[in-house]
Amino acid sequence: MVRHRTILLAAAALGLAAAAPPAQAAGVVEYAVVDGYTIPEPLTETPGDPVMGRKWAINRKLGNCLSCHQMPIPEEQFHGETGPALYGVGDVYSEGELRLRIVDPKALNPYSMMPSFHKVAGLNRVLDGFENKPILNAQQIEDIVAYLMTLKDTSRN
Ligand code: HEC
Repeated sequence: MVRHRTILLAAAALGLAAAAPPAQAAGVVEYAVVDGYTIPEPLTETPGDPVMGRKWAINRKLGNCLSCHQMPIPEEQFHGETGPALYGVGDVYSEGELRLRIVDPKALNPYSMMPSFHKVAGLNRVLDGFENKPILNAQQIEDIVAYLMTLKDTSRN
């Protein structure tokens, strides 16, 4: 075991590229999980936009974060409680830690109920032809991370 364990998920993505048509292999960008708890490098060159991130988080077909989390988004009626409330989460975690928690929460907790929003499917399922399509693209991930980083206030009002 090396001390700093760096898992290059990119290797899996490249493997898929060889097996699947190029158009489908474009879905998930390269990223490296460092020490098993963070993705310190942004997935895109364009910095995340917190205003867009808030929109993706609300969107029921994209992030749908509100189905499981309470968030400071008062205009939306229903906030689920399957996951912890995200008030103040930008103070608790670093950007890289938040990135991994959205990209692939199952890397931290294999039994997590939270979907892995930017991860390639298992290699055996690629043969179906359309599995390499993440729920959120790389820019949407960066936007949501930027939005979560603005959540510094733990109070609910
Ligand atoms: C199906 C339910 C579900 C959905 C949808 C979901 N999450 Fe989660 N989330 C959880 C659960 C459960 C946890 C608790 C940790 C775990 O089990 O992985 C969690 C943990 C987190 C954490 C860590 C919070 C902490 O205090 O430790 C963050 C940040 C987070 N989610 C962000 C998001 C964002 C952003 C979205 C939308 C893009 C989202 N989640 C969508 C269920 C969900």
